[in-house]
Amino acid sequence: MTILVTGATGNAGGAVVRALVAKGVPAKALVRKAVELPAGVEAVVGDLNRPDTFVETFDGVSGLFLLSGYERMDELLANAVEAGVRRAVLLSSSSVVGTDTDNAIAQYHGAAETAVRESGLEWTFLRPNSFMSNTLRWLDQLEAGEVVRLQFPEVPISTIHPDDIADVTVAALTTDGHARTAYRLSGPVALRPAEQLAIVAEAIGRPLRADELSRAETHEELFGSMPAQYAEAIEAFFGDGIIDETTVTDTVEKVTGHPARTLQEWARENAGLFG
Ligand SMILES: NC(=O)c1ccc[n+]([C@@H]2O[C@H](COP(=O)([O-])OP(=O)(O)OC[C@H]3O[C@@H](n4cnc5c(N)ncnc54)[C@H](OP(=O)(O)O)[C@@H]3O)[C@@H](O)[C@H]2O)c1
Repeated sequence: MTILVTGATGNAGGAVVRALVAKGVPAKALVRKAVELPAGVEAVVGDLNRPDTFVETFDGVSGLFLLSGYERMDELLANAVEAGVRRAVLLSSSSVVGTDTDNAIAQYHGAAETAVRESGLEWTFLRPNSFMSNTLRWLDQLEAGEVVRLQFPEVPISTIHPDDIADVTVAALTTDGHARTAYRLSGPVALRPAEQLAIVAEAIGRPLRADELSRAETHEELFGSMPAQYAEAIEAFFGDGIIDETTVTDTVEKVTGHPARTLQEWARENAGLFG
């Protein structure tokens, strides 16, 4: 059994690679350029938007961890099926649950789910809440001082530890009983952004202060930092409340046998990244 991990240098894919190594499951990692990977993991250079760049990679692969939102996904999946891959775990998102299809983020996750569902692979969809690692987006502000601007300060989110996404992935790819299943994944508790900031501050030993943005300030910051359709999508998620990332689910524990990890754990483990 060999698993091909896409997005292997990222928060989620990197965690999947480490979890596979910890379990002794052979892994290949799709990367865009040569990078250091855990010992024993084979790096394969390719571009997710260009499945022709990694056709041979599927030889000997039984399972695939796949990110959403890339082009030519049908072609990638056909290559996988042709080479004998059996299972795929797709990293989708909470946004596909009950949101309108005009939402740009929900749309690309939904399209990826459709492609995987129709591919002939045994599929499992992961629909996680926002990741704990999103707090790394504060890094630029932390270089400048102790004040962090917080968007949607009134919205509590049960953010998820990437290692929990990884453990669910490994279970779905290496054990039976997860086919044709979509898992809604959350962390163990819903926290407002200022509560998340306080936990990070404690872990890194700095007196960080919250600047809670108004809806208008959040709007301005979002539209100034990303293409309009994604800013609109995020505003609809958390400003208009079209997704629910507050409710805590017990899926991580049910699938992996251990409780979902806390933000305190994530922050302690990653304190070094905050300088
Ligand atoms: N963050 C959240 O809260 C959240 C919530 C729900 C779902 N998701 C989904 O989870 C995905 C992964 O999140 P993350 O935090 O792990 O992202 P990340 O840390 O930004 O990692 C993205 C990964 O994708 C790779 N990549 C990007 N473009 C590529 C391409 N054209 N070909 C091959 N590899 C490419 C990157 O490689 P390089 O190192 O070369 O850039 C990196 O390994 C998101 O994209 C989103 O769809 C995220």
